[in-house]
Amino acid sequence: MTALATPYYLIDKAKLLQNMEKIAYLREKSGAKALLALKCFATWSAFETMRDYMDGTTSSSLYEVRLGREKFGGETHAYSVAYADNEIEEVISHADKIIFNSIGQLERFADKASGIVRGLRLNPQVSSSTFDLADPARPFSRLGEWDVARVEAVMDRISGFMIHNNCENADFSLFDRMLSQIEEKFGALLKRAEWVSLGGGIHFTGDDYPLDAFAERLKAFAGRYGVQVYLEPGEASITKSTTLEVSVLDTLFNGKHLAIVDSSIEAHMLDLLIYRENARIEPDTGPHEVMVCGKSCLAGDIFGTFRFERELKVGDRISIQDAAGYTMVKKNWFNGVKMPAIAIRELDGSVNLVREFTYADYEQNLS
Ligand SMILES: Cc1ncc(COP(=O)(O)O)c(C=O)c1O
Repeated sequence: MTALATPYYLIDKAKLLQNMEKIAYLREKSGAKALLALKCFATWSAFETMRDYMDGTTSSSLYEVRLGREKFGGETHAYSVAYADNEIEEVISHADKIIFNSIGQLERFADKASGIVRGLRLNPQVSSSTFDLADPARPFSRLGEWDVARVEAVMDRISGFMIHNNCENADFSLFDRMLSQIEEKFGALLKRAEWVSLGGGIHFTGDDYPLDAFAERLKAFAGRYGVQVYLEPGEASITKSTTLEVSVLDTLFNGKHLAIVDSSIEAHMLDLLIYRENARIEPDTGPHEVMVCGKSCLAGDIFGTFRFERELKVGDRISIQDAAGYTMVKKNWFNGVKMPAIAIRELDGSVNLVREFTYADYEQNLS
């Protein structure tokens, strides 16, 4: 078998299923429903592997809600920071439930959405994020309503709430504490709700996460307020399932050993650049230190500095870890760099190429 040409994203079904099984266990133990957050991962070729383990999808836009309805199925939640007049009817046509970000949007579109379940985003003004770019509780945040009296006034038009204030939170006790703060602040509203979505950002599929304690906490919360709990896992659904496979195109020594690969952090793993994080390579323990760089013109197009077992040479392949979340959804055509193909490693070990991108895709991206 000849190896696929790089660059390509490789989704490993067996690894994806490990996350799915934890999600299914949590649903069973807690009674909570789990919706895939498409903003994080929307590679629909993988949906057939995920569908049986999750209840549906949640979205951030018209196109996401449509993709969720058409490609995933199940329960389809619509949410957006703001909907436009010219899209709201189509959004509603694809959704079982619509969650408005503000009372202004709710009042504007409540009547149009009266045929589906309606809800409102609440902002508890506490979050697990320390990075203001990703902190929904940052000062002057536009993400959700916080004034209980104002929300009480529109309760006749909604039956539930979405609260997303966790961010890459792998600490159960922090989740627990923040949920208690939510209960303190919004308890009276929660008692009047039929459902509450606690959003995403909870890393409960991680190795040491206390899943049973988490399930108990969700179940107790659901019982206390008489609500159906939802979770919206993005990252937790796909973590560690996918790599970006690249090849070395050139090596240089400029005081440090450098390798240039046939990919670009700016084009193919943009999230890392935005959050100023390094990529991950495993293992990363050998004697040869090399800075792995992308091929775009950006001076800082650098995946990171890693330790390899031997010197890198042209043609060597490298697997960059954790390339699914907020990665494939953000890939772009900067510099016209060849877009990574998408491949899936099946359970029997065979690799299926599911999508290749060509010059025509690049050209049609603009006009
Ligand atoms: C409303 C909402 N739900 C779910 C998610 C998914 O979060 P994560 O991928 O961290 O689980 C996000 C992420 O920003 C979000 O804003």
